[in-house]
Amino acid sequence: MKERLLQKFNEIFGAGGNAGVYFAPGRVNLIGEHTDYNGGHVFPCALTLGTYAAVRKREDKTLRFYSMNYEHLGVITSSVEGLTKDKKDDWANYPKGVIWALNQRGYVIDRGIDILYFGNIPNSSGLSSSASLEVLTGYILKELFHFNLYMIELALICQYGENKFIGVNCGIMDQFAVAMGKKDHAIFLDTSNLTCEYAPVKLDHARIVIASSNKKRGLGDSKYNERRGECEKALKELQGAMDIAALGELSEEEFEAHKGAISDPLCRKRAKHAVYENQRTIKAVKALKAGNIQEFGQLMNASHISLRDDYEVTGMELDTLAKAAWEQKGVIGSRMTGAGFGGCTVSIVENDYIKSFIDAVGKTYEEKVGYKADFYVVDIGNGPARL
Ligand code: GLA
Repeated sequence: MKERLLQKFNEIFGAGGNAGVYFAPGRVNLIGEHTDYNGGHVFPCALTLGTYAAVRKREDKTLRFYSMNYEHLGVITSSVEGLTKDKKDDWANYPKGVIWALNQRGYVIDRGIDILYFGNIPNSSGLSSSASLEVLTGYILKELFHFNLYMIELALICQYGENKFIGVNCGIMDQFAVAMGKKDHAIFLDTSNLTCEYAPVKLDHARIVIASSNKKRGLGDSKYNERRGECEKALKELQGAMDIAALGELSEEEFEAHKGAISDPLCRKRAKHAVYENQRTIKAVKALKAGNIQEFGQLMNASHISLRDDYEVTGMELDTLAKAAWEQKGVIGSRMTGAGFGGCTVSIVENDYIKSFIDAVGKTYEEKVGYKADFYVVDIGNGPARL
């Protein structure tokens, strides 16, 4: 991979001077969905799939970006100064946003770079190709410009760029999972204070299988912000009845006792998901630590049902994938992962049944939805690194 990238880099930007090659992972969230902006827990892990880049510092202030995934867009050029989001810069707005965010936080980038990217995360899959691209860029700049930055700070800066430069109001989960990834471990993150714990993911005779619905997110971003708004509204009304800062502070019992304070039934359902999903995540990590993988799987299934019925972010495609998965032999658990409205499901499938799982779920999906799903058997990998 390194050689391939360097060869292409020299072809695009010219040989001469040493380019460095770096990698940052994508992520999959095992459980804890739509809890990260509600002060709850999440349980994602970094993947060995991710984004690569070859990069070289320049003497002037020009930024030149190239992606092997979007070769038809050619080299995208910008200045390090006066960065603004520009529709014609397409995907390059993400790295631009990171440079902008670093500058905003006092980490000044005063020279340009030539940078070439290649990602092997399936497109629009909900496996955080954007957070991977952002954190990779941030990590490279931290190294090239010798910024004294902790990885958690870097994740927060990348999230800031996505919120303020790109305009997507995402939580911290994706950037955190990419920046803090650890091989064979998932990250149990409390988003109320950013403390985290690594939990070994020992699946013995099973693997993690991702099924991509190949449905583009489309209206996803606006719906995402709408769900955030509904949770905020519910929280405000609850705060009239009790002293809490976030929905993630509530147990199921406390929520049931006070839910009458939420006037809109729709907002009540959204808040119910946030509270119950957070508790499910805590229980799931406990089960995994105790070696009770079956219970972990049951909680994954319950998570999908709650995202389908109370949070309403699944849609026909993801429901078809999850339902077909539940019906297969050897499936320990299956649920949608990421924001929803398209993207992927994550399933834990016993090794002996992976092939029959992919065949059967793939067949049902194509019959019902009219086009194919893609499947990936994945491994949990480390955070960003220079190769
Ligand atoms: C997207 C966001 C995350 C998180 C998930 C839902 O991936 O970027 O912050 O909110 O959706 O759990």
